Amino acid sequence: MKILVTGGLGFIGSHTVVELQNEGYQVVIVDDCSNADEKVLAGITAITGKEPVFEKIDLREKEAVGALFERHSDIAGVIHFAASKAVGESVEKPLLYYENNIGSLVYVLKALVKKEKASFIFSSSCTVYGQADAMPITENAPIKPAESPYGKTKQMGEEVISDICKVSPNLQAIALRYFNPMGAHPSVEIGELPVGVPQNLVPFITQTGIGIREGLSVFGNDYPTEDGTCVRDYIHVVDLAKAHVVALQRLLHGKNEKNYEVFNVGTGKGSSVMEVIRSFERVSGKNLNYKIVDRRPGDVIEAFADTTKANEVLGWKAQSSLDEAMRSAWEWEQKVRS
Ligand code: UD1
Repeated sequence: MKILVTGGLGFIGSHTVVELQNEGYQVVIVDDCSNADEKVLAGITAITGKEPVFEKIDLREKEAVGALFERHSDIAGVIHFAASKAVGESVEKPLLYYENNIGSLVYVLKALVKKEKASFIFSSSCTVYGQADAMPITENAPIKPAESPYGKTKQMGEEVISDICKVSPNLQAIALRYFNPMGAHPSVEIGELPVGVPQNLVPFITQTGIGIREGLSVFGNDYPTEDGTCVRDYIHVVDLAKAHVVALQRLLHGKNEKNYEVFNVGTGKGSSVMEVIRSFERVSGKNLNYKIVDRRPGDVIEAFADTTKANEVLGWKAQSSLDEAMRSAWEWEQKVRS
């Protein structure tokens, strides 16, 4: 069965391609390489022994999207990762975010609804919940006003899909709301490759550990949490990738109860920034240089998932601990810089 993976050279996309190929799916990757490297293809091939088909396409080009779906008329499903993901940049360049994250989504859906039957998995984010009123966060928690255009595109993306599913019974869709992905494939053939200064905690820590960054700034230690630093749900990217495969299979095998469903994808465990730093120190044997600075505007105090729905309905559960995920992130950082 042929599956199209947009943004398939990116961090979560590439790990998902590996899991799809391991399950026997034929994968077509679409990526414009704006935030990913074509070399990732070699990493995927080294792991699976199979080179995925690669189409270098900018999904904002409507005609190119139409032509893509004509060339691959036998596509059974799409996993849609392609999007811009930097919160700060989205405030500076909102149009870019609406065009990339909403425009492209609309074109892909437009091509999909023409098909007799199509399955669609959407990359959503726990950012849709904002600061949730209660922990752990269930899928029924209210959607809070977004802090940034990036966050808005995830909320809007979900609404676009939900509206289209109401009138397109041939389209089956699942939105996966990711918590905080981290880590790398155990083969260390693929991993996270942030462009420029990392905005996310884990790549900033590993880059500090290896000496590229002088020190980590911990954004605030006066939050109402156990140690005063923010709490997040860090999930190993391989666990997250596997969630995509089971979600897709649910749709392909017609096991879904509604034609639009949402699932949280996290570990269910919250870890503070200090706990993440300690995890790095344990697995690397190094002391991390860090200092406490002011809070980062827009940060929520805590966010961790209630994963009951994914556990029970998808039959999926995250397997890796924070230390295991951190070890893979550290091994990857060492390999990239060697
Ligand atoms: C961020 C985005 C979120 C997006 C996700 C994608 C914000 C406010 N949120 O989530 O919308 O879906 O990335 O990956 O940008 N931290 C430090 N020092 C650093 C970096 C981070 O102390 O140099 C802290 C943050 O304050 C936070 C935690 O580490 O408490 C995790 O931060 P990060 O990796 O940026 O993820 P989120 O903020 O959860």
